[in-house]
Amino acid sequence: MRMISASWIELDHSNPSSLQLSFLNVGIMSNSVVSFSNGKHNNGVALPSKRKSSNGKHSDGVVLSPSKRKAGEEGDIGSDITKEIKGIVKDYVDQKLRLRDVIPSSRVLRTSSDGEEIESPYPEVPEIPNTYETFFLGHGGLPGTKRERAIAIARKYHETQKSNFMGYQLNCHLDYEKDFSGYLDIHVNNIGDAFKEGNLTLNSKFMERAVLDYYAELWNAKWPHNEKDKESYWGFCLTMGSTEGNLYGMWNGRDYLAGKKILIDEQLVMRSGAMVTSPRFVYQKAVCPPESPNAYTPIAFYSEDTHYSLSKAMTMLGIQTFYAEGEDKYAGQCPITSDGRWPAEVPSHESGAMNIESLSVLVEFFASHGYPILICFNYGTTFKGAYDDVYYACQKLKPILEKYNLLERDVTHGTNQKEKRTGYWFHVDGALGAAYMPFIEMAYLSGRVATKGPTFDFRLPMVHSIAMSGHKWIGASVPCGVYMTKVKYQMLPPEMPEYIGTPDTTFAGSRNGLSPMLLWDNIARNSYEDQVQKALDLEELAAYAEDKLLYLQNQVLHTDLYVARTKLALTVRFKRANDELCRKYSLSNEDLNGLRFSHIFLMEHVTTELVDQLIEDLSREGAFAPQKAEAMAFTVDASIRASTRNRVAFVPSEGRGFHG
Ligand SMILES: Cc1ncc(COP(=O)(O)O)c(C=O)c1O
Repeated sequence: MRMISASWIELDHSNPSSLQLSFLNVGIMSNSVVSFSNGKHNNGVALPSKRKSSNGKHSDGVVLSPSKRKAGEEGDIGSDITKEIKGIVKDYVDQKLRLRDVIPSSRVLRTSSDGEEIESPYPEVPEIPNTYETFFLGHGGLPGTKRERAIAIARKYHETQKSNFMGYQLNCHLDYEKDFSGYLDIHVNNIGDAFKEGNLTLNSKFMERAVLDYYAELWNAKWPHNEKDKESYWGFCLTMGSTEGNLYGMWNGRDYLAGKKILIDEQLVMRSGAMVTSPRFVYQKAVCPPESPNAYTPIAFYSEDTHYSLSKAMTMLGIQTFYAEGEDKYAGQCPITSDGRWPAEVPSHESGAMNIESLSVLVEFFASHGYPILICFNYGTTFKGAYDDVYYACQKLKPILEKYNLLERDVTHGTNQKEKRTGYWFHVDGALGAAYMPFIEMAYLSGRVATKGPTFDFRLPMVHSIAMSGHKWIGASVPCGVYMTKVKYQMLPPEMPEYIGTPDTTFAGSRNGLSPMLLWDNIARNSYEDQVQKALDLEELAAYAEDKLLYLQNQVLHTDLYVARTKLALTVRFKRANDELCRKYSLSNEDLNGLRFSHIFLMEHVTTELVDQLIEDLSREGAFAPQKAEAMAFTVDASIRASTRNRVAFVPSEGRGFHG
């Protein structure tokens, strides 16, 4: 058997039926089969078909003109190979039609280009007829016109969905095209530490640092960053959103509380015939005193309104939650339940804010058993938009931590190296709230609004880290955000500059360099005063939406729509809308305490007209989904949630924006 190896085959889409063949660099190998159908990979046949043709057009048809052939090639190939190539090309041309062979039955029906009803392997997007077929990529690339049409369809779809978008915390009021569209053709990569230049000069760290300084000041951290000043801040712009920030915060907190330290271990190795010293980083664990076996096992606490990224972080990082440790080692001893069973997470109030009284009782239980404490607070919960009272929590927990010697403790490494560390880590997940609540506070201090949120930032010396999403309040075309802590809490290798280029201090390797530029631009165009005004306008809009929904409930429909808005939240929740409206407005849905909810977020692009349009849609018959039991099928029993030990970890989905 033979394998054909072709450096490229060009398909002439201007004349797809001609099926003329020509080759460049086609060789023959033995003992292989050409198999090139139905989008499956063939047996080693290299067909880099997305190369441009010599006339610069993208290829899709089949022709290479005979003039491009190298002398003698035809003789090398032979007519049986020509037949095989013809077969390959025919396969290519036919492959979409024959996709039906690989599609399992019972899939969504769609209409093929020849009008036949066939099935798609993936969900069809209702707004895009023949979604699967429109975007299917064959081996030959798409003909230019088809590609352009597909892009136009995608763009129209996104523009339509954007115009009614209200269900998630995404700011769709973006204005970057004029100044930044050119950046789609420049790769900007902020690999490594934001404060070290490194050799990848195609970075935007100079703008990233300005963004970080801005947030350090806004969150009352000591700035600018100075690696020699342990009290100053350190951070970086996230390539994902707050999910990455939370993951990093938990990682940072886990290693800090576990007493880990990074040391450099030098070993002698043979290189080019000579013995040289070679460094390697070593994570050294703290020495655990025999009388306190739990001293370096951090226990995590977060509320039942916490984003599901936290449970995932627990699982990925192998952090024990109070629930898992409680069930495993202290079954039946939970101090906040009547039957002693451990709740999966710290209870929340109806508003969505963490119950700090319950938290402090739970923390005291574990602190009294010698565990260090890792807490993730929310500043703007995912579904209800509630703000945990971080200030009150610090006040309440400080004496407890002091009582159990966790406010500050000695961590011993090796034989005599001692270091002072806190025995707790407080992380604030400020995905949405950390970006705009400081401006509400400014408005409050200047008498423009009657209330403000609880203090949550680095003014509280007990706060270790904050995460925030950049695509939420600020608005960016791609997911992004900020993670911030203090130099003194970083897990850093010792200062040995000869070994360290740009230290690997971040989570990702390559980091998005465009998103810090967008954040920079947005900040550059909006003064504090603009931000204050924007925050006040959106609070007003949220109040407007709440009023309209209450009016619909009380004056028009005379039925309970469960309308509720947590104080200062930019979201309003109400009875779940029907599927059509959920799709139209991209509404996010949750099942809470047996009731089905939708919610809207009042972000910068939302107008009173859009709110009115939604209210009008909701006033129509059949606008709400039935409150049926099967809605709960996807939720997870509270007793089997975020465990990390000896059992599968379930990610809780109820109340977290997980349902979509
Ligand atoms: C409170 C909270 N934390 C974390 C996240 C995750 O943020 P991202 O989607 O930016 O990763 C969200 C998202 O909605 C959130 O609401």
